[in-house]
Amino acid sequence: MSFWTRRKAIDGAAGGHEGHALKKTLSWPHLVALGVGAIVGTGIYTLTGVGAGLAGPGVILSFLIAGAVCACAALCYAELSTMIPASGSAYTYSYVAMGEPVAWVIGWSLILEYTLVCAAVAVGWSAHAQGLFKMIGTPDFLLAGPHAGGIINLPAVIISMAVAGLLALGTRESATVNMVLVVIKIAALAVFVALCLPAFDASHFTPFMPKGFAATPGPDGVKVGVMAAASLIFFAFYGFDAVSTAAEETKDPKRDLTIGIVGSMAACTAIYMIVAAVSIGASRTEVFSASEAPLVFILETLKHPKLAGLVALAAVIALPTVILAFMYGQSRIFFVMARDGLLPRALSRVNAKTGTPVLMTLLTGVLAAVLSGLLPLKEIAELANAGTLAAFIAVGASVIVLRLREPQRPRVFSTPAWPVVASGAILGCLYLFASLPAKTQHYFFYAQLIGLAIYFLYGVRRSVLAKGSSSAK
Ligand code: ALA
Repeated sequence: MSFWTRRKAIDGAAGGHEGHALKKTLSWPHLVALGVGAIVGTGIYTLTGVGAGLAGPGVILSFLIAGAVCACAALCYAELSTMIPASGSAYTYSYVAMGEPVAWVIGWSLILEYTLVCAAVAVGWSAHAQGLFKMIGTPDFLLAGPHAGGIINLPAVIISMAVAGLLALGTRESATVNMVLVVIKIAALAVFVALCLPAFDASHFTPFMPKGFAATPGPDGVKVGVMAAASLIFFAFYGFDAVSTAAEETKDPKRDLTIGIVGSMAACTAIYMIVAAVSIGASRTEVFSASEAPLVFILETLKHPKLAGLVALAAVIALPTVILAFMYGQSRIFFVMARDGLLPRALSRVNAKTGTPVLMTLLTGVLAAVLSGLLPLKEIAELANAGTLAAFIAVGASVIVLRLREPQRPRVFSTPAWPVVASGAILGCLYLFASLPAKTQHYFFYAQLIGLAIYFLYGVRRSVLAKGSSSAK
Protein backbone atom coordinates (compact mmCIF):
# COMPACT_ATOMS: atom_id res chain seq x y z
CA MET A 1 0.00 0.00 0.00
CA SER A 2 1.32 3.47 -0.85
CA PHE A 3 2.08 5.57 2.22
CA TRP A 4 -0.38 8.20 0.95
CA THR A 5 -3.29 5.86 1.45
CA ARG A 6 -2.30 4.46 4.87
CA ARG A 7 -5.08 5.19 7.34
CA LYS A 8 -5.97 3.74 10.73
CA ALA A 9 -9.43 2.25 11.18
CA ILE A 10 -11.48 4.00 13.89
CA ASP A 11 -12.14 0.80 15.81
CA GLY A 12 -8.52 -0.31 15.66
CA ALA A 13 -7.00 3.02 16.72
CA ALA A 14 -6.63 2.13 20.41
CA GLY A 15 -3.62 0.10 21.45
CA GLY A 16 -3.56 -3.03 23.56
CA HIS A 17 -0.46 -4.88 22.44
CA GLU A 18 1.17 -6.71 25.29
CA GLY A 19 3.70 -4.54 27.09
CA HIS A 20 2.36 -1.52 25.23
CA ALA A 21 -1.03 -1.01 26.95
CA LEU A 22 -1.55 1.76 29.50
CA LYS A 23 -3.28 1.32 32.89
CA LYS A 24 -6.86 2.68 33.24
CA THR A 25 -6.54 4.74 36.42
CA LEU A 26 -8.17 8.13 35.67
CA SER A 27 -11.73 9.48 35.83
CA TRP A 28 -13.26 12.88 35.02
CA PRO A 29 -12.25 14.87 38.14
CA HIS A 30 -8.65 13.90 37.35
CA LEU A 31 -9.16 15.00 33.75
CA VAL A 32 -10.73 18.40 34.61
CA ALA A 33 -7.81 18.94 36.99
CA LEU A 34 -5.39 17.79 34.28
CA GLY A 35 -7.06 20.24 31.85
CA VAL A 36 -7.12 23.22 34.22
CA GLY A 37 -3.63 22.26 35.34
CA ALA A 38 -2.43 22.44 31.75
CA ILE A 39 -4.36 25.59 30.77
CA VAL A 40 -3.91 28.07 33.65
CA GLY A 41 -0.24 28.97 33.84
CA THR A 42 2.37 31.20 32.29
CA GLY A 43 -0.21 32.65 29.91
CA ILE A 44 -2.41 34.35 32.49
CA TYR A 45 0.34 34.96 35.06
CA THR A 46 2.84 36.56 32.65
CA LEU A 47 1.58 37.05 29.08
CA THR A 48 -1.43 39.16 30.16
CA GLY A 49 1.03 42.05 30.54
CA VAL A 50 2.80 41.54 27.20
CA GLY A 51 -0.59 41.18 25.48
CA ALA A 52 -1.83 44.41 27.07
CA GLY A 53 1.30 46.12 25.75
CA LEU A 54 0.52 44.94 22.21
CA ALA A 55 -3.21 45.75 22.19
CA GLY A 56 -4.06 48.20 25.03
CA PRO A 57 -7.40 47.55 26.80
CA GLY A 58 -8.46 45.80 23.57
CA VAL A 59 -6.48 42.84 24.96
CA ILE A 60 -9.81 41.80 26.47
CA LEU A 61 -10.98 41.30 22.87
CA SER A 62 -7.78 39.28 22.23
CA PHE A 63 -8.76 36.99 25.10
CA LEU A 64 -12.26 36.68 23.64
CA ILE A 65 -11.01 35.84 20.13
CA ALA A 66 -8.38 33.34 21.29
CA GLY A 67 -10.95 31.82 23.67
CA ALA A 68 -13.59 31.53 20.93
CA VAL A 69 -11.16 29.80 18.55
CA CYS A 70 -10.09 27.42 21.32
CA ALA A 71 -13.72 26.75 22.24
CA CYS A 72 -14.40 25.67 18.63
CA ALA A 73 -11.32 23.45 18.73
CA ALA A 74 -12.33 22.06 22.15
CA LEU A 75 -15.74 21.01 20.81
CA CYS A 76 -14.04 19.24 17.88
CA TYR A 77 -11.64 17.54 20.31
CA ALA A 78 -14.56 16.36 22.44
CA GLU A 79 -16.26 14.75 19.44
CA LEU A 80 -13.11 13.03 18.19
CA SER A 81 -11.75 11.93 21.56
CA THR A 82 -15.01 10.18 22.45
CA MET A 83 -15.32 8.66 18.98
CA ILE A 84 -11.67 7.53 18.90
CA PRO A 85 -10.77 6.91 22.55
CA ALA A 86 -7.13 6.21 21.86
CA SER A 87 -3.98 7.97 23.03
CA GLY A 88 -2.33 10.30 20.59
CA SER A 89 -4.77 13.19 20.39
CA ALA A 90 -4.70 15.18 17.11
CA TYR A 91 -2.06 12.80 15.74
CA THR A 92 -4.33 9.76 16.04
CA TYR A 93 -7.41 11.64 14.75
CA SER A 94 -5.44 12.78 11.69
CA TYR A 95 -4.20 9.21 11.13
CA VAL A 96 -7.80 7.98 11.05
CA ALA A 97 -9.22 10.87 9.02
CA MET A 98 -6.46 11.98 6.68
CA GLY A 99 -3.79 9.28 6.63
CA GLU A 100 -0.20 8.74 7.68
CA PRO A 101 1.73 11.66 6.11
CA VAL A 102 -0.68 14.25 7.60
CA ALA A 103 -0.64 12.35 10.90
CA TRP A 104 3.16 12.51 10.96
CA VAL A 105 3.15 16.28 10.35
CA ILE A 106 0.63 16.74 13.17
CA GLY A 107 2.48 14.35 15.50
CA TRP A 108 5.66 16.28 14.82
CA SER A 109 3.79 19.56 15.50
CA LEU A 110 2.54 18.12 18.80
CA ILE A 111 6.07 17.11 19.77
CA LEU A 112 7.06 20.71 19.02
CA GLU A 113 4.12 22.07 21.01
CA TYR A 114 4.36 19.85 24.07
CA THR A 115 8.12 20.02 24.44
CA LEU A 116 8.22 23.78 23.87
CA VAL A 117 5.40 24.46 26.35
CA CYS A 118 7.26 22.44 29.00
CA ALA A 119 10.40 24.42 28.23
CA ALA A 120 8.61 27.80 28.17
CA VAL A 121 6.88 27.24 31.49
CA ALA A 122 10.11 25.97 33.04
CA VAL A 123 11.76 29.27 32.03
CA GLY A 124 8.77 31.19 33.47
CA TRP A 125 9.03 29.19 36.69
CA SER A 126 12.74 29.93 36.85
CA ALA A 127 12.03 33.68 36.60
CA HIS A 128 9.85 33.40 39.72
CA ALA A 129 12.29 31.15 41.60
CA GLN A 130 15.47 33.14 40.96
CA GLY A 131 15.40 34.76 44.42
CA LEU A 132 15.33 31.36 46.04
CA PHE A 133 18.27 30.10 43.97
CA LYS A 134 20.27 33.26 44.69
CA MET A 135 19.64 32.77 48.41
CA ILE A 136 21.38 29.39 48.29
CA GLY A 137 24.33 30.94 46.50
CA THR A 138 23.71 29.99 42.88
CA PRO A 139 25.99 32.17 40.68
CA ASP A 140 24.31 34.40 38.06
CA PHE A 141 25.82 32.53 35.09
CA LEU A 142 23.83 29.45 36.14
CA LEU A 143 20.54 31.41 36.28
CA ALA A 144 20.25 32.45 32.60
CA GLY A 145 20.84 30.99 29.16
CA PRO A 146 23.48 32.33 26.71
CA HIS A 147 20.93 34.77 25.16
CA ALA A 148 20.84 36.63 28.51
CA GLY A 149 24.56 36.58 29.23
CA GLY A 150 24.66 33.36 31.27
CA ILE A 151 25.66 29.77 30.49
CA ILE A 152 22.58 27.79 31.43
CA ASN A 153 19.22 28.40 33.11
CA LEU A 154 19.77 25.81 35.85
CA PRO A 155 16.45 26.28 37.75
CA ALA A 156 14.57 25.61 34.48
CA VAL A 157 16.63 22.45 33.92
CA ILE A 158 15.99 21.26 37.48
CA ILE A 159 12.20 21.77 37.36
CA SER A 160 11.94 20.02 33.96
CA MET A 161 13.78 16.96 35.27
CA ALA A 162 11.91 16.96 38.60
CA VAL A 163 8.51 16.86 36.87
CA ALA A 164 9.69 14.11 34.50
CA GLY A 165 10.79 12.08 37.53
CA LEU A 166 7.38 12.50 39.17
CA LEU A 167 5.62 11.33 36.02
CA ALA A 168 7.89 8.34 35.66
CA LEU A 169 6.78 7.19 39.14
CA GLY A 170 3.21 6.66 37.90
CA THR A 171 0.17 8.42 36.48
CA ARG A 172 -2.17 8.32 39.46
CA GLU A 173 0.25 9.82 41.96
CA SER A 174 1.13 12.71 39.68
CA ALA A 175 -2.53 13.41 38.82
CA THR A 176 -3.35 13.69 42.54
CA VAL A 177 -0.46 16.06 43.22
CA ASN A 178 -1.63 18.01 40.20
CA MET A 179 -5.14 18.40 41.67
CA VAL A 180 -3.80 20.01 44.89
CA LEU A 181 -1.65 22.47 42.92
CA VAL A 182 -4.56 23.39 40.64
CA VAL A 183 -6.54 24.48 43.69
CA ILE A 184 -3.63 26.70 44.80
CA LYS A 185 -3.34 28.57 41.52
CA ILE A 186 -7.08 29.11 41.16
CA ALA A 187 -7.25 30.37 44.77
CA ALA A 188 -4.44 32.86 44.00
CA LEU A 189 -6.37 34.19 40.99
CA ALA A 190 -9.52 34.49 43.14
CA VAL A 191 -7.58 36.54 45.73
CA PHE A 192 -6.27 38.73 42.90
CA VAL A 193 -9.77 39.41 41.56
CA ALA A 194 -11.19 40.14 45.04
CA LEU A 195 -8.43 42.69 45.75
CA CYS A 196 -8.73 44.41 42.35
CA LEU A 197 -12.52 44.84 42.34
CA PRO A 198 -12.67 47.76 44.83
CA ALA A 199 -10.17 49.68 42.64
CA PHE A 200 -12.09 49.13 39.38
CA ASP A 201 -12.14 52.24 37.18
CA ALA A 202 -14.11 51.99 33.92
CA SER A 203 -12.24 54.98 32.41
CA HIS A 204 -9.19 52.66 32.01
CA PHE A 205 -10.97 51.01 29.07
CA THR A 206 -10.60 54.07 26.80
CA PRO A 207 -9.08 54.40 24.26
CA PHE A 208 -10.00 50.76 23.71
CA MET A 209 -7.83 49.82 20.70
CA PRO A 210 -4.95 52.34 20.57
CA LYS A 211 -2.92 50.04 18.26
CA GLY A 212 -5.75 48.93 15.98
CA PHE A 213 -7.24 45.50 15.37
CA ALA A 214 -5.19 43.63 12.74
CA ALA A 215 -1.61 42.49 13.48
CA THR A 216 0.54 45.13 11.77
CA PRO A 217 4.22 45.95 12.35
CA GLY A 218 4.77 48.83 14.78
CA PRO A 219 7.63 51.38 14.54
CA ASP A 220 10.19 48.77 15.74
CA GLY A 221 8.94 46.09 13.34
CA VAL A 222 7.17 44.07 16.07
CA LYS A 223 3.57 43.23 15.17
CA VAL A 224 1.02 45.05 17.36
CA GLY A 225 -2.80 45.26 17.57
CA VAL A 226 -5.59 43.13 19.00
CA MET A 227 -4.78 40.17 16.70
CA ALA A 228 -1.05 40.27 17.47
CA ALA A 229 -1.98 40.05 21.14
CA ALA A 230 -4.51 37.27 20.39
CA SER A 231 -1.84 35.18 18.63
CA LEU A 232 0.31 35.47 21.77
CA ILE A 233 -2.50 35.19 24.36
CA PHE A 234 -3.55 31.97 22.58
CA PHE A 235 -0.78 30.38 24.63
CA ALA A 236 -2.86 30.99 27.77
CA PHE A 237 -5.80 28.94 26.48
CA TYR A 238 -4.52 25.67 25.20
CA GLY A 239 -3.84 22.67 27.28
CA PHE A 240 -7.28 21.09 27.22
CA ASP A 241 -5.98 18.98 24.32
CA ALA A 242 -3.61 17.33 26.81
CA VAL A 243 -6.71 15.73 28.34
CA SER A 244 -7.43 13.81 25.17
CA THR A 245 -3.99 12.25 25.27
CA ALA A 246 -5.11 10.39 28.41
CA ALA A 247 -7.88 8.56 26.55
CA GLU A 248 -6.48 5.05 27.02
CA GLU A 249 -5.98 5.65 30.73
CA THR A 250 -9.54 6.77 31.59
CA LYS A 251 -12.04 4.40 33.18
CA ASP A 252 -15.04 5.62 31.15
CA PRO A 253 -13.56 7.52 28.19
CA LYS A 254 -16.87 8.63 26.69
CA ARG A 255 -18.19 10.40 29.80
CA ASP A 256 -14.87 11.36 31.35
CA LEU A 257 -13.34 12.93 28.25
CA THR A 258 -16.41 14.99 27.35
CA ILE A 259 -16.61 16.48 30.84
CA GLY A 260 -12.82 16.78 31.06
CA ILE A 261 -12.28 18.70 27.82
CA VAL A 262 -15.37 20.92 27.61
CA GLY A 263 -15.47 21.53 31.38
CA SER A 264 -11.85 22.60 31.76
CA MET A 265 -12.04 24.84 28.67
CA ALA A 266 -15.22 26.60 29.80
CA ALA A 267 -13.93 27.11 33.34
CA CYS A 268 -10.65 28.63 32.15
CA THR A 269 -12.26 30.96 29.61
CA ALA A 270 -14.48 32.39 32.37
CA ILE A 271 -11.53 32.79 34.76
CA TYR A 272 -9.41 34.61 32.13
CA MET A 273 -12.13 37.05 31.10
CA ILE A 274 -12.60 38.03 34.74
CA VAL A 275 -8.86 38.32 35.49
CA ALA A 276 -8.24 40.42 32.34
CA ALA A 277 -11.19 42.72 33.03
CA VAL A 278 -10.24 43.43 36.66
CA SER A 279 -6.56 43.90 35.73
CA ILE A 280 -7.47 46.64 33.25
CA GLY A 281 -10.02 48.11 35.69
CA ALA A 282 -7.44 48.26 38.50
CA SER A 283 -4.44 49.55 36.53
CA ARG A 284 -3.84 51.17 33.14
CA THR A 285 -2.51 48.73 30.52
CA GLU A 286 0.49 50.96 29.70
CA VAL A 287 1.53 50.70 33.36
CA PHE A 288 1.29 46.96 34.04
CA SER A 289 2.32 45.83 30.53
CA ALA A 290 5.97 46.54 31.41
CA SER A 291 5.99 43.95 34.19
CA GLU A 292 7.01 40.31 33.77
CA ALA A 293 4.70 39.43 36.66
CA PRO A 294 1.76 41.75 35.91
CA LEU A 295 -0.68 40.32 38.46
CA VAL A 296 1.85 40.59 41.28
CA PHE A 297 2.78 44.10 40.08
CA ILE A 298 -0.85 45.27 40.09
CA LEU A 299 -1.34 44.06 43.66
CA GLU A 300 1.81 45.88 44.73
CA THR A 301 0.57 49.13 43.18
CA LEU A 302 -2.71 48.62 45.05
CA LYS A 303 -0.63 48.47 48.28
CA HIS A 304 -1.09 44.79 49.07
CA PRO A 305 2.60 43.73 49.25
CA LYS A 306 2.07 40.64 51.40
CA LEU A 307 -0.75 39.26 49.28
CA ALA A 308 1.26 40.13 46.16
CA GLY A 309 4.03 37.96 47.60
CA LEU A 310 1.58 35.14 48.19
CA VAL A 311 0.28 35.30 44.61
CA ALA A 312 3.90 35.16 43.40
CA LEU A 313 4.53 32.16 45.64
CA ALA A 314 1.41 30.45 44.29
CA ALA A 315 2.78 30.93 40.76
CA VAL A 316 6.06 29.30 41.80
CA ILE A 317 4.24 26.40 43.41
CA ALA A 318 1.62 25.98 40.69
CA LEU A 319 3.36 26.56 37.36
CA PRO A 320 4.88 23.07 37.45
CA THR A 321 1.32 21.68 36.96
CA VAL A 322 1.46 23.03 33.40
CA ILE A 323 4.77 21.27 32.79
CA LEU A 324 3.32 18.15 34.39
CA ALA A 325 0.29 18.05 32.11
CA PHE A 326 2.23 18.77 28.92
CA MET A 327 5.03 16.38 29.74
CA TYR A 328 2.40 13.74 30.39
CA GLY A 329 0.84 14.47 26.99
CA GLN A 330 4.20 14.53 25.28
CA SER A 331 5.33 11.16 26.58
CA ARG A 332 2.03 9.68 25.31
CA ILE A 333 2.38 11.21 21.85
CA PHE A 334 5.88 9.73 21.60
CA PHE A 335 4.53 6.45 22.93
CA VAL A 336 1.75 6.19 20.34
CA MET A 337 3.95 7.26 17.44
CA ALA A 338 6.54 4.67 18.46
CA ARG A 339 3.83 2.01 18.79
CA ASP A 340 2.77 2.87 15.24
CA GLY A 341 6.34 2.30 14.08
CA LEU A 342 6.97 5.94 13.13
CA LEU A 343 9.52 6.34 15.94
CA PRO A 344 11.76 3.57 17.39
CA ARG A 345 9.50 1.06 19.21
CA ALA A 346 12.01 0.18 21.91
CA LEU A 347 11.39 3.63 23.36
CA SER A 348 7.68 3.00 23.93
CA ARG A 349 7.92 0.07 26.36
CA VAL A 350 5.68 0.47 29.42
CA ASN A 351 7.27 -0.26 32.81
CA ALA A 352 5.44 -3.23 34.38
CA LYS A 353 5.52 -1.75 37.90
CA THR A 354 4.47 1.87 37.27
CA GLY A 355 2.35 1.34 34.14
CA THR A 356 4.01 4.33 32.47
CA PRO A 357 6.41 4.63 29.53
CA VAL A 358 9.37 5.52 31.76
CA LEU A 359 12.06 5.85 29.10
CA MET A 360 9.90 8.10 26.95
CA THR A 361 8.93 10.26 29.92
CA LEU A 362 12.55 10.80 30.92
CA LEU A 363 13.56 11.50 27.33
CA THR A 364 10.88 14.22 27.16
CA GLY A 365 12.20 15.67 30.43
CA VAL A 366 15.75 15.85 29.08
CA LEU A 367 14.58 17.50 25.84
CA ALA A 368 12.57 20.14 27.73
CA ALA A 369 15.47 20.67 30.13
CA VAL A 370 17.95 21.35 27.32
CA LEU A 371 15.60 23.78 25.53
CA SER A 372 14.62 25.63 28.70
CA GLY A 373 18.22 25.79 29.85
CA LEU A 374 19.41 27.49 26.68
CA LEU A 375 16.62 29.45 24.90
CA PRO A 376 14.60 32.64 25.64
CA LEU A 377 10.97 32.37 26.80
CA LYS A 378 9.33 34.53 24.12
CA GLU A 379 10.70 32.57 21.17
CA ILE A 380 9.88 29.22 22.77
CA ALA A 381 6.28 30.27 23.51
CA GLU A 382 5.65 31.66 20.01
CA LEU A 383 6.89 28.49 18.36
CA ALA A 384 4.76 26.42 20.74
CA ASN A 385 1.74 28.43 19.54
CA ALA A 386 2.54 27.64 15.88
CA GLY A 387 2.67 23.89 16.61
CA THR A 388 -0.59 24.03 18.53
CA LEU A 389 -2.37 25.96 15.80
CA ALA A 390 -1.35 23.27 13.28
CA ALA A 391 -2.77 20.57 15.55
CA PHE A 392 -6.06 22.44 16.05
CA ILE A 393 -6.44 22.96 12.29
CA ALA A 394 -5.99 19.21 11.81
CA VAL A 395 -8.60 18.46 14.46
CA GLY A 396 -11.16 20.75 12.77
CA ALA A 397 -10.37 19.14 9.41
CA SER A 398 -10.65 15.63 10.89
CA VAL A 399 -14.16 16.39 12.19
CA ILE A 400 -15.25 17.53 8.72
CA VAL A 401 -13.65 14.56 6.91
CA LEU A 402 -15.15 11.97 9.28
CA ARG A 403 -18.60 13.61 9.25
CA LEU A 404 -18.60 13.36 5.46
CA ARG A 405 -17.03 9.89 5.26
CA GLU A 406 -18.84 8.21 8.15
CA PRO A 407 -22.03 10.20 8.80
CA GLN A 408 -23.86 7.19 10.30
CA ARG A 409 -21.28 6.29 12.93
CA PRO A 410 -22.67 6.95 16.43
CA ARG A 411 -21.12 9.94 18.16
CA VAL A 412 -21.20 10.07 21.96
CA PHE A 413 -20.54 13.79 21.82
CA SER A 414 -21.66 15.57 18.66
CA THR A 415 -20.13 18.97 17.96
CA PRO A 416 -23.11 21.35 17.71
CA ALA A 417 -23.47 23.06 14.28
CA TRP A 418 -20.37 21.13 13.21
CA PRO A 419 -19.83 22.78 9.79
CA VAL A 420 -19.71 26.20 11.47
CA VAL A 421 -17.71 25.14 14.53
CA ALA A 422 -15.14 23.00 12.66
CA SER A 423 -14.64 25.67 9.97
CA GLY A 424 -14.47 28.28 12.74
CA ALA A 425 -11.64 26.33 14.38
CA ILE A 426 -9.74 26.01 11.08
CA LEU A 427 -10.18 29.61 9.90
CA GLY A 428 -9.64 31.06 13.37
CA CYS A 429 -6.37 29.14 13.76
CA LEU A 430 -5.20 30.20 10.28
CA TYR A 431 -5.88 33.86 11.17
CA LEU A 432 -3.99 33.49 14.45
CA PHE A 433 -1.09 31.79 12.64
CA ALA A 434 -0.96 34.68 10.14
CA SER A 435 -0.81 37.09 13.10
CA LEU A 436 2.31 35.44 14.58
CA PRO A 437 5.74 37.06 13.99
CA ALA A 438 7.18 36.20 10.56
CA LYS A 439 10.28 34.70 12.23
CA THR A 440 8.13 32.23 14.15
CA GLN A 441 6.32 31.21 10.97
CA HIS A 442 9.65 30.55 9.25
CA TYR A 443 11.01 28.50 12.17
CA PHE A 444 7.83 26.45 12.14
CA PHE A 445 8.22 25.58 8.47
CA TYR A 446 11.92 24.71 8.91
CA ALA A 447 10.96 22.41 11.79
CA GLN A 448 8.41 20.72 9.52
CA LEU A 449 11.07 20.16 6.85
CA ILE A 450 13.27 18.41 9.44
CA GLY A 451 10.26 16.35 10.54
CA LEU A 452 9.46 15.28 6.96
CA ALA A 453 13.09 14.27 6.41
CA ILE A 454 12.87 11.99 9.47
CA TYR A 455 9.59 10.53 8.21
CA PHE A 456 10.95 9.70 4.77
CA LEU A 457 14.22 8.33 6.19
CA TYR A 458 12.62 6.25 8.96
CA GLY A 459 8.85 6.12 9.51
CA VAL A 460 7.67 5.64 5.95
CA ARG A 461 9.29 2.16 5.85
CA ARG A 462 9.00 1.17 9.52
CA SER A 463 5.32 2.11 9.90
CA VAL A 464 3.18 -0.73 11.29
CA LEU A 465 0.71 -0.04 8.49
CA ALA A 466 3.49 -0.43 5.89
CA LYS A 467 3.88 -4.02 7.10
CA GLY A 468 0.12 -4.55 6.91
CA SER A 469 0.06 -5.94 10.44
CA SER A 470 -2.47 -3.56 11.94
CA SER A 471 -5.75 -1.89 11.19
CA ALA A 472 -5.08 -0.75 7.66
CA LYS A 473 -8.11 0.23 5.69
N1 ALA B 1 -1.94 27.50 28.73
C1 ALA B 1 -0.68 27.22 29.30
C2 ALA B 1 -0.12 28.39 30.02
O1 ALA B 1 -0.73 29.45 30.06
C3 ALA B 1 0.25 26.73 28.26
O2 ALA B 1 0.92 28.30 30.60
